[in-house]
Amino acid sequence: MSNPSEADLIHMFKGIPFTTRSSPELLKSLDTIRAREDDVLLVSYPKSGTHWLAGVITKLYNTQVTLTSPIEFGDISKLEELNKVSSKRIIPTHLDYNMLPPNFKNKKCKMIYISRNPKDTAVSMYHYYRDNPNLPTIDTWTAFFDLFLKGDVVCGSWFDHFLSWEEHENDKNILFLFYEDMKKDLPKIVKQISLFLALNVSDNDIQDICKKSSFSEMKSDTEKENSDPNHTVCALTSNRKLIFRKGAVGDWKNHFTPKQNRRFEEIFNEKMKFSKM
Ligand code: A3P
Repeated sequence: MSNPSEADLIHMFKGIPFTTRSSPELLKSLDTIRAREDDVLLVSYPKSGTHWLAGVITKLYNTQVTLTSPIEFGDISKLEELNKVSSKRIIPTHLDYNMLPPNFKNKKCKMIYISRNPKDTAVSMYHYYRDNPNLPTIDTWTAFFDLFLKGDVVCGSWFDHFLSWEEHENDKNILFLFYEDMKKDLPKIVKQISLFLALNVSDNDIQDICKKSSFSEMKSDTEKENSDPNHTVCALTSNRKLIFRKGAVGDWKNHFTPKQNRRFEEIFNEKMKFSKM
């Protein structure tokens, strides 16, 4: 069998590249999704630490919670599937703020946005593209670097995604987190998340959750478990090894040439000139 063509894997919706695993019918119907007041949305640009955050959040509850696959993933039957999931639903999404179904905004659902140094995000995404047959073939890091800067990758431009959410960072129902802060002091961030979600979690439990959420624990857990694509953040692969790659801050330094770094900085400074980042 020949390799699938780019058109078999990617299609454009509202100017943003989506994988064909997000059907156009579903994307067009997202606004009809029924939100529930107690839904928690876990929002990110891909490769920002979404699985890590999902691992932490699901461990924080001592009541029944269900992690769904991303809202935008699947075909039109997704709408009905989501309706059938009992509360409380933890719903991941890579949608930018403007595409997020208004029902979640109107119901003031709690949303946690996790972001990561875009240079490390680009490197993580490069490896993910390279090793994932459900994404277009990438020949070199140089080629991917250009695509990333142009926003010609799944979920579009990192800059547009981040800026669309940053505009809402002071909304009371949105918590902004950074991957690097989780790496630096996970217990502090887990405490912050528990307060935001109004959960009463003891310091001992927080320590325990942090231990179970370390990179090595999560990586080895995932290799053991038989993951159901309907209940995972990344529904683009069943090969969980692709998700837990290195889990480090600063891996970009092993990939960026000095020239690429200068170009990235120039574009970053221009696009982010009104950002607080
Ligand atoms: P790397 O490719 O740099 O290793 P996402 O979950 O949004 O797809 O992000 C995946 C990135 O988060 C990967 O980055 C992965 O290794 C990292 N990651 C996953 N779990 C982690 C953990 N427990 N601690 C630190 N990083 C983690």
